[in-house]
Amino acid sequence: MINLGILISGRGSNMESILNFLKENNIADICPKIVISSKPEAEGLKKASKYGVPTRVVSNNSKGWDYDSEIINILQEYDVNPENGLVCLAGYMRLLSPEFVRKYKMRIMNIHPSLLPSFPGLNSQKKALDYGVKVTGCTVHFVDEGLDSGPVIAQKHVAVLDNDTFETLSERILIQEHILYPNCVKLFSEKRLLVEGRRVIVT
Ligand code: GAR
Repeated sequence: MINLGILISGRGSNMESILNFLKENNIADICPKIVISSKPEAEGLKKASKYGVPTRVVSNNSKGWDYDSEIINILQEYDVNPENGLVCLAGYMRLLSPEFVRKYKMRIMNIHPSLLPSFPGLNSQKKALDYGVKVTGCTVHFVDEGLDSGPVIAQKHVAVLDNDTFETLSERILIQEHILYPNCVKLFSEKRLLVEGRRVIVT
C-alpha cells in the first residue's frame, strides 16, 4: 500500500486526474491521504474535498527547510512517510529544499509541461513557442535537488501547430499530462520503476 500526498498551488487539474484515475479504476493499493496547498485560494482544494481527501494550506512566508519542515510534519501526520509514501507535485510552484528531497529520496514526482531537459522552470509552453520547436510535450520525473532536473520517468510528445497560441498549446499538453501522471503513479505503486543513475527503467 502506498500512501499518497499531493502538493498543489493552483487549479489542481493534475491532482484531480490522479484522484479520478484511482477512483475510476478502483485502485486500492494507493491511498490518497492528504492534499497540501501553498496557496489558500487554490482551486484544487475544493476539488480534493469533492474526492473526500483532507486538505491543508501552508501559506506562510518562510523559506527552504523552515517551510518544508511544516509540509513534512503534515505529511507524517497523515502517514505519508519515506517508507510507505509517494509525494506528487501537481502544479506546485515552489522549489523543494535539499533536506526534503533527501528525506523522500526517489519518492517525490513532478509533472512538467515540456520535454525535459528542454524548457525547465516557468512558462515552458511559451518558451517552446518562442524557440520555435515543432514538438514539445510533458514529462513526469523524480524530483532531485535541482530545478526540473531529476530522472525522467515518462514523457509524451505534442506537436506544435503553426497557429498555436500559449493557450491552445497548453491545453493540448495538459490533456497528455492527465494521461501520463496517473500512469506513472500506478507504475510506482506496482514497484515497477527501477532507478539506475539518471535512467528510470520500467520493469
Ligand atoms: C501544469 O501544466 C503543470 O505541468 C505545470 O503547471 C500546470 C499546473 O496545472 N507545472 C509546472 O510548470 C511546474 N514547473 P494544474 O494545477 O491544473 O495541475
